[in-house]
Amino acid sequence: MKALTVALPGREYDIKIETGLLDKAGACCRAVLPKAKRVAVVTDSNVAPLYLQRVYNSLKLAGFAVEGIVVPAGESSKSMEMLGQLYDQMLAFGLSRTDAVVALGGGVVGDLAGFAAATVLRGVDYVQIPTTLLAQVDSSVGGKVAIDLPAGKNLAGAFWQPKLVLMDPACLTTLSERIFSDGMAEVIKYGCIRDADFFRLLLDCGGRAGVMEHIEQVLYTCCDMKRRVVLNDERDTGERMVLNFGHTVGHAFELAGHYETWTHGQAVAVGMLWAAALGERLGVTPAGTGADIRRALEMYHLPAEIPCEWETMVEAVGLDKKRAGEGISFVLLEQLGCAVPVKMDTNRLLDELKQLYEG
Ligand code: GLY
Repeated sequence: MKALTVALPGREYDIKIETGLLDKAGACCRAVLPKAKRVAVVTDSNVAPLYLQRVYNSLKLAGFAVEGIVVPAGESSKSMEMLGQLYDQMLAFGLSRTDAVVALGGGVVGDLAGFAAATVLRGVDYVQIPTTLLAQVDSSVGGKVAIDLPAGKNLAGAFWQPKLVLMDPACLTTLSERIFSDGMAEVIKYGCIRDADFFRLLLDCGGRAGVMEHIEQVLYTCCDMKRRVVLNDERDTGERMVLNFGHTVGHAFELAGHYETWTHGQAVAVGMLWAAALGERLGVTPAGTGADIRRALEMYHLPAEIPCEWETMVEAVGLDKKRAGEGISFVLLEQLGCAVPVKMDTNRLLDELKQLYEG
């Protein structure tokens, strides 16, 4: 087993990584939830048939009363309506403030169940059991939980740290190529923003099979990087923004595909190439960096281009601006393995992006 501790003062929690960990979920949860009697396990219609029973049995063995709550798979479940249904089901189950929620699934389940945990009964404990690569390396760590609003993604949310994160790398074997690649975009991102040696390791792995040979190390390295960033800037006002490398422009591609045609990772992949190109144009990023990133993306079946109307790009940058307030922190690479958020005037950023768009 590999383990990391996110040592936030008063809200410290462990990330455990081990093949077969799903069957130990009960004992692991009991250790961090000594008073809980009931656990509501939120999962989705893809994950439930694969893994719910094992987690359910393990929690039962540890003495919890367990309720499985299954939401439809897909981003549309991150809604006010679904959140309301979760509250109803949790309260009907008899959840009290000393009980807990388990999020078993990918990013949608983690965000939705985490936000329900953050708000039901003014907040209850929760445990993340991420089952996709993207959720394991990114969304299950760091406490960002949210639902989508008609005005945009993740617009109602909270910072609510889990009590524990349990990762079973064996869950990744059932992912489709598309969903594995989705997570690989975020894995490659970590190499770009913080660790050039890790980036080279990903190139040496040569593809999914190679990554799976080193999977515990890959998950550990990504979570360690995220853990360090979150410890320095839990509320995302400074260093944490580097995690958004490729995301500002990536959001435009997600919007262009109505969050269906392209996965988050596919959109971020192309966003990273744009950010590298912009950095190279501005003289911040060494020439050739974009070409290196492109090689890694191709290796993991991620796109280098996604069609997008210019108006959609403007809309996405506008949404980022709305979140940020003054100007935009656009993340650029000073070199492969070193990202910095650069405060840019929105109009200047749009001018620069327009040049690339027309380029
Ligand atoms: N996914 C970016 C963050 O957690 O800040």
